[in-house]
Amino acid sequence: MEVKKVGVLGCGLMGAGIAQTSAMAGFETTVREVSEELLQKGFAAIEKSLERFADKGTITAEQQKQARDRLFGTTSFDDLSDCDIIIEAIIENLDEKQKTYRQLDSLCKPETIFASNTSSLSITQMMSPTSAERQKRFIGMHFFNPVPIMKLVEVVRTILTDANVYEDAISFAQKLGKVPVRAGDKTGFIVNRLLVPYLLDSIRALEEGVGSIVDIDNAMKLGCGYPMGPLTLGDFVGLDTTYYIAEIMFNEFREKRFAPPTLLKRMVMAGLYGRKSGRGFYDYTKDAKDPTPMNLV
Ligand code: 3HC
Repeated sequence: MEVKKVGVLGCGLMGAGIAQTSAMAGFETTVREVSEELLQKGFAAIEKSLERFADKGTITAEQQKQARDRLFGTTSFDDLSDCDIIIEAIIENLDEKQKTYRQLDSLCKPETIFASNTSSLSITQMMSPTSAERQKRFIGMHFFNPVPIMKLVEVVRTILTDANVYEDAISFAQKLGKVPVRAGDKTGFIVNRLLVPYLLDSIRALEEGVGSIVDIDNAMKLGCGYPMGPLTLGDFVGLDTTYYIAEIMFNEFREKRFAPPTLLKRMVMAGLYGRKSGRGFYDYTKDAKDPTPMNLV
C-alpha cells in the first residue's frame, strides 16, 4: 500500500517534529492535538524549525511554503479517518494510548496502518484493544529528538505484524528521508536498551564523584566523539522522560543497569527536568546556549 495521507497524534516535541518531517517529505499531513492552544504551540515550534532550515539554505522559501501548506491542525479525531498511516506521539501512558487506539480503530479505514512513537511501552500491549485485522497493521515507529534532524527510525514489529505492512512501513520511513532499522517489540527496542543504561551510569558516576558534570560530559564528547555529553543529553531528552523510561525498563528486565539512580529521582521530584524546565544538570535560565553546571552533589 502506498502512503499518501499521514495523520499524527500529538503536536508536542515529538509529534510536531514528525508532522514537520512528513510535510517536508511531501505528504499531506494532519496533526491532532487535544486543544487549540497545544496545537498552536506545536505549530510555532514547526515554524521555528522550518525557519532554521530556510535560514541555513537547507530548504528554499518555496519548499518552506509547500511544507506549511501540506500541514493541517485539528482537535478532532474525525479528520484522521482517511489517513493511510497514523503515527501516534501522545503522552507515554498505556491507558491513554489504548483509549485513543480503540476510538480510532472504528473511525479509520480498515487498511490504515497504526504506528506508535512510544520509546518504552509495549506495542503488543498497546494494540490489544483494536480488532484482529488492525493488529496485523500495528507497528512501532520510534523517532529521535530533534526529529527533523535525526536520521534514525526504529520500525518495530510484533509477532502479529503482517510482513507486507512491515515492508510498507520501512519504505515509508525511507520516503520520510530517514534510515529505518528493524527491531522486535522488546522494551526499549535497540536504542534505549543501550542508551538508557549509559545515561544512568553517567549519573551514577557523578553521584560517586568520579568526575564533575562538565568533565563527565567532556570526557564522552571529546574522548568518544559523541555530539553531546551524557548529562547534557539527559537534559535535552528530559530528566522526567529519562526517569520514566528507566522505571519501565527496570520493571520489565529487573536489572540494576536500568534502575534510576537516587539523584535522578530527586532531581525529578524537585522539578529539575532539564532544558524544558530551565534547569537540570545545567542551568539554562541565564544563557541557554552556554548553560552553567548546577551544584548537585
Ligand atoms: N530544526 C531544524 N534544524 C535544527 C534543529 C531543529 N529542530 N535542531 C538542530 N538543527 C540544526 C542546526 O540549525 C544546525 O544546522 P547546521 O549544521 O546546518 O548549522 C545543526 O542542526 C546542528 O545544530 P547546532 O549547531 O545548534 O548544535 P549541534 O551541532 O550540537 O547539533 C544536535 C544539535 C543535532 C541536537 C546534536 O547535538 C546531536 O545530535 N545531539 C544528540 C541528539 C540525540 O542523541 N538525540 C537522541 C535522543 S534519544 C531519543 O530521542 C529517544 C527517546 O526515546 C529518549
